[in-house]
Amino acid sequence: MPQEPKKLWFSRVHWLVLCLIWLAPQTLWAQDPGKSVLGKHTYRSYCATCHGATGQGDGSIADMLNVKPSDLTVLAKNNNGEFPAERTRKIIDGREKVKGHGTGEMPAWGDAFQAISDDEEAVAEKIDQLVHFLESIQVE
Ligand code: HEC
Repeated sequence: MPQEPKKLWFSRVHWLVLCLIWLAPQTLWAQDPGKSVLGKHTYRSYCATCHGATGQGDGSIADMLNVKPSDLTVLAKNNNGEFPAERTRKIIDGREKVKGHGTGEMPAWGDAFQAISDDEEAVAEKIDQLVHFLESIQVE
């Protein structure tokens, strides 16, 4: 049968394409959980006292504040189901004012992290990890 090698060749390409399709999302995914795990550690140390362990705004010192800490699990829900990553990044950084936001109750973490590390890239990375963590705790 002269057609057989051709068929075989096709099926190999087929497999390759299938493998690539299968691998692509896995490699993309692999980066995000890593970041959000690192962000979770930062969150526990710096944010949970106000925003609560689960992010719902029920931290141990929440009652002592004039303004209630936001429920951080509904950021996507409040934004038509789309997680506002860039806006969240700016709010956490706090050095750049976000329109309609900021009562002064929430510390500016950009300054705080910069005090620990003067490396602007490291500060951005830390905030990025926090944003990834927050994205991972969004409710439907
Ligand atoms: C001292 C208490 C306190 C701590 C600690 C704190 N926050 Fe907040 N946060 C607030 C309060 C109060 C608000 C809401 C009032 C406002 O707009 O400033 C808020 C608002 C926010 C918002 C905006 C939510 C929205 O609905 O737009 C984000 C995002 C946020 N905090 C993230 C964080 C992260 C991440 C950390 C840790 C790095 C953190 N916060 C630590 C008190 C705190």
